[in-house]
Amino acid sequence: MVIKLALLPGDGIGPEVVAQARLVLEAACEAFGHELQTREMNIGGAALLASEDPLPRETVAGCLASGAVLLGAVGAPRFDAYPPAKRPESGLLRLRRELGVFANLRPAVCLPSLEALSPLRPEIVRHSDIMIVRELLGGLYFGERSTEGETGSRRARDSMAYAEPEIERIARVAFQLARARRKKVTSVDKANVLDCSRLWREVVGRVGGDFLDVELSHMYVDSAAMALVARPSEFDVILTENMFGDILSDQAGAVVGSLGLLPSASIGGKVGLYEPIHGSAPDIAGQDLANPLGAILSSAMLLRHSFQLEPEALAIESAVREVLGAGKRTRDLAASGQAFIGTREMGKLIVGRIRTSRPAAHTSGC
Ligand code: IPM
Ligand code: MG
Repeated sequence: MVIKLALLPGDGIGPEVVAQARLVLEAACEAFGHELQTREMNIGGAALLASEDPLPRETVAGCLASGAVLLGAVGAPRFDAYPPAKRPESGLLRLRRELGVFANLRPAVCLPSLEALSPLRPEIVRHSDIMIVRELLGGLYFGERSTEGETGSRRARDSMAYAEPEIERIARVAFQLARARRKKVTSVDKANVLDCSRLWREVVGRVGGDFLDVELSHMYVDSAAMALVARPSEFDVILTENMFGDILSDQAGAVVGSLGLLPSASIGGKVGLYEPIHGSAPDIAGQDLANPLGAILSSAMLLRHSFQLEPEALAIESAVREVLGAGKRTRDLAASGQAFIGTREMGKLIVGRIRTSRPAAHTSGC
């Protein structure tokens, strides 16, 4: 199969982690007999510097002409004072909308070898395996907003809106994913206060009627935030709207030990978008200190969801588990005083595992 990808390294540590993910994808493609074609494009601060637009038109066109998009990270302190439409983050939000990716999947798994990294007691976090399904194109992020009035008496407004079909389509994704997992969906809302949430709860309940083999429960977001630290292992799929999902997914990342190794997939549109959950971490950029595993695991999700290449995805995921199981750590995963390896070395070890566990698929012809 030809795997044609748009690579959007972005800002900060983005280029370093995407470079390692690309090497890993190359190794997996070679091992399974696929052809990898990649093209790099600008987004975020890198694009602002080159073109004054955080999402240049060529980038959108290039992404739409690819089979999937792998993104590093966007954002840098030097752009903090830029007007909203010129901030690197707005490039990412526009890209999500242009691609139509309404379903953001954020798995947070507590790996046995990393249990000690969780701020929670091991017996609390052990066996946590959560899939957050975050609605990505609606709610507060894309509602009407304004700031009016004179300095000193200005009024700012952001609005949250959800239409029934938007809730229905994301709910279906969550139920379908739950079917292949532990068959539990927890829908998170604030239905005791918000109209959007009341509609959300009603529609999710209705969709649940088509998935009677999946157990559905509803939770208010404040209770969910509490339960996520008190009993994380009880969650299977968490289904929630855009803003709540943004917050709960970072929290889930901290609960399982390291945000640095969590991947994400944004799907449901024309082309899938894959990115690590971590940010651009400008403080450690360019120093070979970043953890490339979030980007590498995102590339596994890319093979699974955009190309239906499950064995290939599993090969990458097991290589990551094995390398971590062998005690290899990037700086963010190392205990104080423990030795750690750099971004490139971590990538190299994963590539090595993929090559040894699955020798190249080329046939000699004899
Ligand atoms: C995320 C990030 C983004 C978001 C930012 C960078 C716009 O926090 O992907 O979680 O809020 O969606
Ligand atoms: Mg976030």
